[in-house]
Amino acid sequence: MAGLIPQSFIDDLLHRTDIVEVIDKRVSLKKQGNNHTACCPFHEEKTPSFSVNQDRQFYYCFGCGAGGNAIGFIMNFDQASFPQAVENLAKDAGLEIPYQESEAQAKKNSQNGLLIEALESANKFYQSQIRHHNNRAAAISYLKGRGLTGKIAQEFGLGYAPPGWANLLTSIGTDGKQQRILLKAGLIIEKPQNKTQTKNQSQTAEQQYYDRFRDRIMFPIRDSRGRTVAFGGRVLSDEKPKYLNSPETPVFRKGSELYGLYESKKSGEKHDKLILVEGYMDVIALAQMEIRNAVATLGTATNSTHLTRMFRQVPEVIFCFDGDKAGNAAAWRALENTLPLMEDGRQVKFLFLPAGADPDTHVRSIGKEAFLGEVNSATPLEDFFFNKLTQDLDIGSIEGKARLSNLAKKYIQKIPTGIYAKLMLNRLADLLGVSVDSLDQLFNGKPLLDSTRSNSVLESLNDKNIINNLSSAGGNRQGFIGKAEELKGYRKPASLKAIELLLRNPEIALSITKDLKPLHAAEDEGRKLLVALIEMVRNNPKTDTFSMLGYCYATKLGGRLTKLLDSEKITPVEGLEKEFLQIIDNILSDVTQKLELVRLKTELRQKVYPHSRNSI
Ligand code: UTP
Ligand code: MN
Repeated sequence: MAGLIPQSFIDDLLHRTDIVEVIDKRVSLKKQGNNHTACCPFHEEKTPSFSVNQDRQFYYCFGCGAGGNAIGFIMNFDQASFPQAVENLAKDAGLEIPYQESEAQAKKNSQNGLLIEALESANKFYQSQIRHHNNRAAAISYLKGRGLTGKIAQEFGLGYAPPGWANLLTSIGTDGKQQRILLKAGLIIEKPQNKTQTKNQSQTAEQQYYDRFRDRIMFPIRDSRGRTVAFGGRVLSDEKPKYLNSPETPVFRKGSELYGLYESKKSGEKHDKLILVEGYMDVIALAQMEIRNAVATLGTATNSTHLTRMFRQVPEVIFCFDGDKAGNAAAWRALENTLPLMEDGRQVKFLFLPAGADPDTHVRSIGKEAFLGEVNSATPLEDFFFNKLTQDLDIGSIEGKARLSNLAKKYIQKIPTGIYAKLMLNRLADLLGVSVDSLDQLFNGKPLLDSTRSNSVLESLNDKNIINNLSSAGGNRQGFIGKAEELKGYRKPASLKAIELLLRNPEIALSITKDLKPLHAAEDEGRKLLVALIEMVRNNPKTDTFSMLGYCYATKLGGRLTKLLDSEKITPVEGLEKEFLQIIDNILSDVTQKLELVRLKTELRQKVYPHSRNSI
């Protein structure tokens, strides 16, 4: 264990780590809205002032000011050094640290590294077969027949496992050790008699093992760093099983990978939503049609790991399902898994395709633009939810109402406390024709909105109707809350607003063209901090949210800022830079005006009392 830990690895590790899990293992956390709280482990206290924010992946104690990311927490809590803390997290994430000086060495020594290497060699092998094997014409014409260009096939690394039992085995499994690695990587299979017989040194590789994938189109499954961790292999005909997949291995957990996520990130396009489809070919066909934000689970139902990973990338997920009965049932299961993750700011929609169609065939038949149109007008989770619950009920009758409230209750209670839960409750109250208050009581008095947050704003605006109108118009909740704050004159100082924007998107500091010198004279804490943070980013454009937060914690505004970041209002991304620059302009003109005023006053005073040294 020696050498530097590359920054890219640390970034990746933090990406894969959930601070809530890390802390919860050590200090039991209680969920409260977007936050998880506990009594602070770093100072004595009786009431909890320690809070962990999952979206932003940091913790903060309002009592003692301790705060930071997952690595910082382990350093403090376990009394660990930085490398120890990283080691610790990496181990939990099943990752090997690629120490910089001895990267090759560390990789060789680690078993996972060896598996990854073998998988990468297999990937190269399959890709070379699609170019050189005698049977390549069949593979290529299959892919062409499915409408794929060579370019897309290459981007997704498609290959061909030729017919025969020992192609991969003999070309990569050159010795006993290599064969054991291939076995562990799921690429070859041990013959049954070989397992029971006492090992016979003179047996050839072919007597002991055979290739798992034969005469199949190979789809490499890459992890979020682009390393091949498994394969899916498709027959070229209608034989069964249609797809054969790698088994679970130390580097492949089938239930948590998302096919296409790496390729989507690598395409270089920025997306605000991900489209979740079912098949490998759906992801690739959409990419072929220039829709680069589709991902697929690997033949498993969508679970919370998938969803959490997607919501780390984007605020909106569109589930794509077949419009038939099975698709509808699958959509409902997905909805059930999604409810506990429906934190404010996240959105889920359902796109139901014509029965029998899958995204692959559908996008080809209606084209890119029409498909994107359907994606944009997909059914919001809340509409699907209430349509489904009410479809077989007569909600005009008392009995129907009672059934609906019973059915809905158990689902709505799964939604995290917040505006979204409140929105759902309002919809239900409307359907039942009762007040939200009486529904609340019906639901055992569970508070559906965290009282410390935008609650007051919403309540005071008699929000029920507004929220309802908004949701039926498919409106945007965040925008609504922003509006509500505006209407109520619920304002925070402009400098804090600018700091908040900057913390979320450090790079906007680089777009300031105005001279900030006048601001250096600022005495106001917020303005001072704002200038300091802008300088930080200008000096080092790679400055990230966490290093800025670290800086903020040490200032008088630390606590206040954390609260700010917790507040509901999130400016839509498009308007963000403009808003930030506008605030800077306003502050600058305010400062300039004040300076001008001071100058004028001084000048005046000197005219009236030429001998006085004091200014007014
Ligand atoms: P689909 O049959 O929808 O996959 O199964 P697809 O990609 O659209 O297939 P084709 O090539 O167009 O016919 C959805 C997913 O279920 C898993 C695979 O992950 C597949 O992509 N699956 C399906 C298997 O693992 N094995 C199978 O035999 C079938
Ligand atoms: Mn298909």
